[in-house]
Amino acid sequence: MPNIGSYTEAERRSNATWAELQERPTTFTMLTGDRPTGRLHLGHWFGTLKERVRLQDMGVKTNILIADYQVITDRDTTEHIQDNTHNMVLDYLAAGIDPQKAMIFAHSAVPALNQLMLPFLSLVSESELKRNPTVKAEAEVSNHVLTGLLLTYPVHQACDILFCKANVVPVGKDQLPHLELTRTIARRFNERYGHVFPEPAPLLSETPELPGLDGRKMSKSYGNAIALSMTEDETAKLIKKARTDSERTITFDPEGRPGVSALITTASLMNGVPPEEIAAQIGESGAGALKNYVTDTVNDYLRPMRSRRAELARDKALVHEVLERGNREANEIADATLAEVRHVMHMEY
Ligand code: TRP
Repeated sequence: MPNIGSYTEAERRSNATWAELQERPTTFTMLTGDRPTGRLHLGHWFGTLKERVRLQDMGVKTNILIADYQVITDRDTTEHIQDNTHNMVLDYLAAGIDPQKAMIFAHSAVPALNQLMLPFLSLVSESELKRNPTVKAEAEVSNHVLTGLLLTYPVHQACDILFCKANVVPVGKDQLPHLELTRTIARRFNERYGHVFPEPAPLLSETPELPGLDGRKMSKSYGNAIALSMTEDETAKLIKKARTDSERTITFDPEGRPGVSALITTASLMNGVPPEEIAAQIGESGAGALKNYVTDTVNDYLRPMRSRRAELARDKALVHEVLERGNREANEIADATLAEVRHVMHMEY
């Protein structure tokens, strides 16, 4: 039974893994990924992208998945998936993911990865799937019927992680149940058929969550997210629209004044000035002045990334080349893993 509630256990494992990773980074293989549902934003950057770049540069084998099949867990169209994928690759590259070092690929392009779903599904029970807290929460917020894919996508995520034998997965809290399930699947497979898969460890991020412009979690669907690829004007407009409150004097009070405080936190994360100091500095000048300050800080911070992105976008063949190489490499790895799976399952004919 996966021990889903055990956050402290995951934390302990994460800390131990971090320590080992500092010593021997090249012995680690990481897999992370994103659903191509829109542009990547500052929440992604502070929450995970920055860390991925750091791990890549430390020498950890870096695998970055574009989880395109996962898009249809809770939506009925793939209309914009190509454009989203294209832009996501540009976002990755602009953020510092280096395609010479990292493998960027889409799981729909890797048949052998998807085939792992069959044996893996046999290793989990209906009740385990039904009590996954992330699946439950997603089913509620998305108002989508609980399809077979929504119910089983955590198993598919195990395929993503295990096909390349990743032993570390940078995760936020919400993804921990999925990783627990991946560990369970690896363990059960190995016990039943013979050792093929590692039990991957979580790498919990230390960075505090960046609030969206309204104080809620930063998410494209809330309209409170600053995309990495926005222009400076678009950034200014979005920040101008952010809801503050009627109190003139700016103070830092995340509970009582979520809007104002989210703006302050955003600037603080970027320029390193403590939130209280920013609040004191703006003081009587009010929300308009605060918004100008935040806009300048954000635009200054993102300027190098945005100009790199514009430069990369000029090379029209680049994204295609990066994906073609990543997909080819992922297929080689997945084919080799599936061959091992067939071998231990006595399915070689
Ligand atoms: N579930 C992740 C998200 O919501 C994307 C994802 C798919 C993923 N497969 C993964 C993340 C494997 C880490 C490991 O964006």
